[in-house]
Amino acid sequence: MLRSHRCGELRPEHIGQAVTLAGWVWRWRDHGGVVFIDLRDYTGLSQVVFNPEHNPAIHDEAQRLRSEYCIQVKGVVRPRPEGSQNPNLPTGQIEVLVDALTVFNKSETPPFPIEDHVDVSEEVLLEHRYLDLRRPIMQRNLRLRHRAVKACRDWCDAHGFLEVETPLLAKSTPEGARDYLVPSRVHHGCFYALPQSPQIYKQLLQVGGCDRYVQIAKCLRDEDLRADRQPEFTQIDLEMSFVEEEDVYEAVEGILAAIMKATLDLDIPLPFPRLPWAEAMRRYGSDKPDTRFGLELCDIGDLVARSDFKVLVSALEQRGIAYALNAKGCLSYSRKDIDTLTAFVGRFGLKGLAYIQVTPEGPKSSIVKFFPEDVLQQILVRCGAEPGDLLFFGAGPRRIVWDALGRLRKEIAAREKLIPEGRWDFLWITEFPLFEEDEHGRPTFAHHPFTGIHEADVPRMKTDPYAISARCYDCVLNGVELGSGSIRINRPDVQQAVFDILGIGPEEAERKFGFLLRAFKYGAPPHGGLALGLDRLVALICGTDSIRDVIAFPKTQKATGLMESCPSPVDEAQLIDVGIKVRSQPGA
Ligand code: AMO
Ligand code: AMP
Repeated sequence: MLRSHRCGELRPEHIGQAVTLAGWVWRWRDHGGVVFIDLRDYTGLSQVVFNPEHNPAIHDEAQRLRSEYCIQVKGVVRPRPEGSQNPNLPTGQIEVLVDALTVFNKSETPPFPIEDHVDVSEEVLLEHRYLDLRRPIMQRNLRLRHRAVKACRDWCDAHGFLEVETPLLAKSTPEGARDYLVPSRVHHGCFYALPQSPQIYKQLLQVGGCDRYVQIAKCLRDEDLRADRQPEFTQIDLEMSFVEEEDVYEAVEGILAAIMKATLDLDIPLPFPRLPWAEAMRRYGSDKPDTRFGLELCDIGDLVARSDFKVLVSALEQRGIAYALNAKGCLSYSRKDIDTLTAFVGRFGLKGLAYIQVTPEGPKSSIVKFFPEDVLQQILVRCGAEPGDLLFFGAGPRRIVWDALGRLRKEIAAREKLIPEGRWDFLWITEFPLFEEDEHGRPTFAHHPFTGIHEADVPRMKTDPYAISARCYDCVLNGVELGSGSIRINRPDVQQAVFDILGIGPEEAERKFGFLLRAFKYGAPPHGGLALGLDRLVALICGTDSIRDVIAFPKTQKATGLMESCPSPVDEAQLIDVGIKVRSQPGA
């Protein structure tokens, strides 16, 4: 065997034993001819000692060892001498006096040290991801991810879920992003779409009698990337037959509780609180509110309407809203701070950011004069304003004001350090609208077109589409959208009615989703489910802002793989095989 123990496993109880360790040379010290090496693997490190008095032959070899050489040592465990123990290290009481050394492989000097905190760009790390992954923090992340998946699988297995793999070479699934296409060699001019999610297949599994389905599913979406988005990511994908919302909540809460226990040994309180979408927007300006801190928004439209403040009043006249945000204790913000925040909300479309300083002598601002005294007082009361506070006002189109003030709320919380450490605020957002207006003022689906509605709303769908609540729900953790799901439509007539409103005529519906509509004609059971973003969940568990830190081989913001250089051009012969002629070359 190439090793008897892992590098991080040795303890005082092993003293006197002959052991064989294998790993990478980490830190390296030569103390007056005695060479000390920290030998590392994923479990940690052991100090191994090459003493010329003990073994002159290997000592010379030891002096030629360098960082990241991959080696094996054989030796005997002994206590570290008095004064050189390290109480912060699990193996800090012992060391291994080496009798034999094998160099498995030398290493070039790595482009960065294998440490948790390194001072190089993410590009350099990603280019050498295999070295990046050797860093202890990355090993911890991957192992926490493994624990999370294992806990999920175990819970699902114990609760009657069936794990089924659905195709990667698939037909387009509408999740609102672009498809990645794969050309067919056998059918020139035809393409598979890589699945944006297993949505349609998992619904078909319900028609197929699978009852409770789970998959740790790869999803592929060609969309603009951010820190919390990758073109290729993983969902914990669930679908269940004969269920209502409550059944799905219970399953998802069970899975998340099991994962938090297995990864962080946390007992999270169940059930999760619930917040209807409209209330979330009104109080937090967001459908994924971070409820770990207050700073709630305040609708003051009715009061503003009684003022002479033209900017705000005219926003109301154009079907907009006027909201306030009480920045508690922020009276000391300078003109420059306020300008910075005004520019910040401007990035999200808000045209300005009026404010009132609540001083001990009373409200102060250039806009105070526009408000009758009683109106001003009511605004202060509604916002819970006290001396020392700073009130911000935003007015304009509903979505813009919610979004901008919702973000301002988070920005101020971050500046004021209002977000407590170690809190896990899980939350359900319920009662989303079924349709949203797109940029052309037409209805588009808020979640996806298979989302169900209550039976009583079916007749209203054509006459009053925006008033209908969808039977869908999001799971939110600390302000991050962890998952989305819904109770689905299971009747072909209702599904076609939704397609009609979305402007998907019977012919297009048949071409794109005919197989689903046909399946619904054969006794499709009531069903529903949800998908959790595994990468986002694991990132939160690992305490990192970027899901790239919890994916072994992620892509950059530009959807490229820096290590393997992909995407890349292919041989002409391959293109001919699949019947494709390239219209523009890379960089063109
Ligand atoms: P949705 O599109 O909301 O729903 O996706 C579900 C969850 O997947 C995660 N997610 C992502 N994670 C990383 N990178 C991305 N590009 C990305 N896009 C989404 C999010 C999100 O909440 N089929 C439906 C689910 C259902 O209705 O059952 C779906 O895919 O955490
Ligand atoms: P103005 O009349 O454009 O100089 O604006 C007067 C004050 O109102 C400034 O403090 C602006 O930042 C603010 N303001 C302008 N537009 C808006 C808006 N849509 N919402 C909130 N405040 C605004």
